[in-house]
Amino acid sequence: MIPDEVVEQVSQQADIVAIIGEHVKLKKTGSVWRGPCPFHQGKGPNFSVVPGRGYTCFVCGEKGSVFTFLQKRLGMSFVDAVKLAGAKAGIEVQEVQRRREGPDPREPLWELQAATSEFFQKTLWDAPQGSAARDYLASRDVSRDLATRFGLGFASRDGEALRTYLHGLGYDDARLTAAGLYLPLEGSDQLKARFRDRLIFPILDQSGHTVGFGGRLLGPGEPKYLNSAESEVFNKGKLLYHLGAARNAIRKDDRVVIVEGYFDALRLVSVGVEGVVAPMGTALTDAQAELLGRFTRQVVLCYDSDGPGQKATFRAADLLLAKGFVVRVVTLPEGEDPDTFARSQGGAAVSRLLDEAMDVFDRKVQLLERAGWFADLQHKRQALDRLLPTIRAASDPVTRDLYLARAAEAAGVAREALVAELHAVRRGSGPRAAVQRPSRGDATAPDAYGGGPGAAPTRDALPTGPYRSGVEQGNAEQVLLRVVLTQPMWRDHVIEELGKLEESERPASVDFGGDETDGFGESASLALRDPVYGMIYRALLMVGEALSAEAIAEHLDPLAIRVYEELRADPQAVVDARASVADALRQLRGRSVDARLRALESLLPLADAAEKDALTLQIKRLADEKRSLGVQHWGMVRRSR
Ligand code: UTP
Ligand code: MN
Repeated sequence: MIPDEVVEQVSQQADIVAIIGEHVKLKKTGSVWRGPCPFHQGKGPNFSVVPGRGYTCFVCGEKGSVFTFLQKRLGMSFVDAVKLAGAKAGIEVQEVQRRREGPDPREPLWELQAATSEFFQKTLWDAPQGSAARDYLASRDVSRDLATRFGLGFASRDGEALRTYLHGLGYDDARLTAAGLYLPLEGSDQLKARFRDRLIFPILDQSGHTVGFGGRLLGPGEPKYLNSAESEVFNKGKLLYHLGAARNAIRKDDRVVIVEGYFDALRLVSVGVEGVVAPMGTALTDAQAELLGRFTRQVVLCYDSDGPGQKATFRAADLLLAKGFVVRVVTLPEGEDPDTFARSQGGAAVSRLLDEAMDVFDRKVQLLERAGWFADLQHKRQALDRLLPTIRAASDPVTRDLYLARAAEAAGVAREALVAELHAVRRGSGPRAAVQRPSRGDATAPDAYGGGPGAAPTRDALPTGPYRSGVEQGNAEQVLLRVVLTQPMWRDHVIEELGKLEESERPASVDFGGDETDGFGESASLALRDPVYGMIYRALLMVGEALSAEAIAEHLDPLAIRVYEELRADPQAVVDARASVADALRQLRGRSVDARLRALESLLPLADAAEKDALTLQIKRLADEKRSLGVQHWGMVRRSR
């Protein structure tokens, strides 16, 4: 840390014109100096330097202090920039230790991890057991130089050598288990190594401390990668792979490339893209975004071209936009990841791809356009519903404005209409708004690779007591489902009526190139909106009358199984079936008409004059239908038990 008053003094006395003048040809005009902007490689004299103040480019908007200039142009840290500027001004800049109780308490943990990393490296290159891993690296076209640069190592099948080595350094077994490197083997004093027979990627934090490892199996098997367990020094959600080594390049390029995997990062570095980082098998977190924000505000997402990759891309993008980043995306050819692409196409092709990376919003619009989503009103509504959250997410006002303009243009809708939409918190634009997807194992849950929080719900984690539906008319849904499950004579009638309802509500669904779908999982139902009732009802339709034990296990999640049993338990629960069914169906029809009315109304702001007339007519018809159902307030839930 450099004391504030020293920073201030250097900033006052540094000769900014001389320092920037080493990199840019500056000419004096009046009281300022001008030249071509080094940031956007401009030709005209749009870059101006004001002594005692800083620099600005009127074209690309880059501006900052003498320190920012050194940081961005030379990739220096702030401290180094102050030191350099200070040296030129003849000011001695000394870092002072932040006052602390003593050394960082994590120091011993870092040291243990570093010693382990060293041992893994030695095993890889010098031990006979390392030969398979050396062959593996060669087969993946990773040179020894490159591997060494990343500190790659190998954990052999037998963990005893490492244990002995660490003992020799004074670490006892208690330390080794506490650090997660070994697990006690039950019923013996043996220990089992966590990493066995794996190629090892050491993971460093942004300050260069070794904090953990990612280990890849050399052959097929599960899990393909195993990371260190979470610990005081290893917190996956707060670390980015390779950030420590990439930070200067990121500052210098004022851009970071985010990839998904270890090999992707390694490969990009090998073709000259040094400012690259990777989250480790988890979706990008707020903490990781904030970490990046210290180095740049420009991100290029370069994920796999497959469905999950695209989904992860858009998810990360919204998170980054919310934090004020400018987000661009690279679209790799089908079936490629950054590693395979860079390996087969080389650095020039990669640079081209990165330079051509498209703003994430443009990419979304492009996907929607290509799939014909702006062609008619219904689809337009849904397309905009997909875009509005991203516009809302953008915390940077300039970006937001740009996005609004693009969306308005693509959809052929007045900008003002969109602005109004943006600020209105609508109750939902159609039937689908009320449908919640039952949450089951989600492929992109925070910890996508098993273990840890976010795993599928288990029986013992279920809430207890009778199930309470949270949806409007949940009670009517429950009555109908109960009847279907327990009173055979009413079954066909109810199923037929619900089928009609479902037909009238089915919306077209938006396929966002692998992005989050509309909430209609296979197990969701349009007629029954409660996720659990819907899941049971769907299963019933799919499998037929009675659900066998296997069918139950296959189609229902633990909560749904419990509710299923609860609903079937008491065949007498619905007393006057005829009246109850009629009443419940009337309620659901009313709800459906309401939803369709809302959906039509939500189209109005997007419609042109002719479309408006047609819509108004339809709205009137639905309003008549609603009246004929004879119920005024659909929002009220009747408790009929
Ligand atoms: P990928 O499966 O896309 O791996 O996972 P990759 O990097 O392309 O791996 P190679 O090329 O087959 O070796 C991307 C990243 O997700 C994490 C790892 O960080 C991996 O690099 N991951 C993946 C895990 O943590 N565990 C896994 O089982 C799989
Ligand atoms: Mn790969």
